[in-house]
Amino acid sequence: MRRQRFVIFPLLAFALSLYVVDVEGASSLQPPVKLVWHYYKVHNTCVNAEVYIRHQVEKFYKRDKTIAAKLLRLQYSDCFVTGSDGSILLDGPKSEKTARQNRRLGGFAFIDKIKTVLEARCPGVVSCADILNLATRDAVHLAGAPSYPVLTGRRDGMTSTAASVDLPSPSISWEAALAYFKSKGLDVLDMATLLGAHSMGKTNCSYIEDRLYNFNKTGKPDPSMKASFLANQRKLCPPRLKKGQSYPLVFLNPASGPKYSFSNSYYSRVLTKEAVLGVDQQLFFGDDTKQITQEFAASFEDFRRSFALSMSRMGNINVLTGKEGEIRKNCRFTNKYNPSKN
Ligand SMILES: *[C@@H]1O[C@H](CO)[C@@H](O)[C@H](O)[C@H]1NC(C)=O
Ligand SMILES: *[C@@H]1O[C@H](CO)[C@@H](O)[C@H](O)[C@H]1NC(C)=O
Repeated sequence: MRRQRFVIFPLLAFALSLYVVDVEGASSLQPPVKLVWHYYKVHNTCVNAEVYIRHQVEKFYKRDKTIAAKLLRLQYSDCFVTGSDGSILLDGPKSEKTARQNRRLGGFAFIDKIKTVLEARCPGVVSCADILNLATRDAVHLAGAPSYPVLTGRRDGMTSTAASVDLPSPSISWEAALAYFKSKGLDVLDMATLLGAHSMGKTNCSYIEDRLYNFNKTGKPDPSMKASFLANQRKLCPPRLKKGQSYPLVFLNPASGPKYSFSNSYYSRVLTKEAVLGVDQQLFFGDDTKQITQEFAASFEDFRRSFALSMSRMGNINVLTGKEGEIRKNCRFTNKYNPSKN
């Protein structure tokens, strides 16, 4: 199946045609995937599973808008490492969630809550991996993203090891980040699109310290930052921390900030050299990525469509189906090691 892109950039067409070949050759993303639309409904195992999940998300979102950014990050951390199999949710002294890159993840308790509701309604049926994909879709939709179709029928992985967590640091170079995405079967358009998840949420000043004070060991700031923005970020992330003070957090997209709204302002800020992370600002410097950025900054609709497609592609990475994996009773434990069972 050839991937379809709604957004066609004339000059990009050639570049993209190269990536299509790449995607078709990738083993991690074999479309058509073995997942189906409304799996729990068509199999008549939990007809209202998606309705229950949406209801929980709506209730929670009213109290805490940060959940959309948290779930997006959780899904990214799950899907890119060993596939979209819920392995990020497993507890354990050396599980994926204990890896350095995953230290600030949140949303676990909320996934537990949804799982408890589903276990009460349809015991042993709905996988934690599907819950994560569906809840993320619904939360991000409430934040302003499109509601895209999530195929279901994923099963849960039975292993989770911190050592397998290869997520790149937010201060990584563009080339390394793109190589990482391609190793998972995604392409430059997916990466430019999924970076749009930085349209909301926070990051740690430690990831931009070098941009603000010592870019590439030059002792100077990143020359690609707009001066007024640099001054502003330096205020938020001071050069010297007081004794015992930890690095503060800053908004990934100051235009969204505490509203936690999903929009294309992230791309406008790349164009005005006001992106927070180095990897975001680098969108400006590739011919293809600059065109994608201009397109998304000019048209929220194009961004929304591309986002829907790339989110589906991410959710399909190395899924477990059929007799693979299991359906966990508790998202934090494999059924074999679930301490709450007799
Ligand atoms: C960082 O410095 C090295 C050595 O001077 C140079 O080759 C490289 O291109 C620089 N990287 C950036 C992102 O400026
Ligand atoms: C930011 O990162 C630093 C260095 O890893 C860490 O010590 C600090 O606790 C983090 N700050 C927050 C608020 O998470």
